[in-house]
Amino acid sequence: MHPAIERITEIFNQRGSDQYGTEAVTQLQHALQSGLLAQESGAPESLVVAALLHDLGHIFKDDALPLSCDQNLDDKHEFVANAWLKEHFGKVVADPIRLHVVAKRYLCTKYPHYEGELSPTSRKSYHDQGGPMSEEELAAFEQESLYREALELRKWDDLAKDPHKQTPPIEHFIPAMQACLA
Ligand SMILES: [Fe+2]
Repeated sequence: MHPAIERITEIFNQRGSDQYGTEAVTQLQHALQSGLLAQESGAPESLVVAALLHDLGHIFKDDALPLSCDQNLDDKHEFVANAWLKEHFGKVVADPIRLHVVAKRYLCTKYPHYEGELSPTSRKSYHDQGGPMSEEELAAFEQESLYREALELRKWDDLAKDPHKQTPPIEHFIPAMQACLA
């Protein structure tokens, strides 16, 4: 197996059982549900892999995630593994991941009902991450070549918090990761 894919499966094996902040799912469940939702929507493999790996930054380092909403929830996790992801999977996987936090701010700013549909934790982190965007920030986001992909990823991210959803194991996504290696 490619060393990058080996490292990913190892990280999920070691840290995947960490709780996804204050959500009702673990990091691994959240990742697998995101990847599966992308796959079920018929998304291209690059976006399936981006969905699967979008929160890798939370567990890429040894730091634990804040487990209380009283803390600042903006850990800048979207940038943590970005260079590494870009090196191994290219911009097409790394960019929607880098943009998935700002995509939430974009959706909440453009469509105010979106904020009401977020989980309480995600709503708290939205404000820690900067809250509503200015006209300049909205325009800058739309200049990103993969901003539409980031918006799609964001919607799966927000749905991938179901404690009862059945998913395949991480191995199910190995062929997709292999196909996306840069
Ligand atoms: Fe997420």
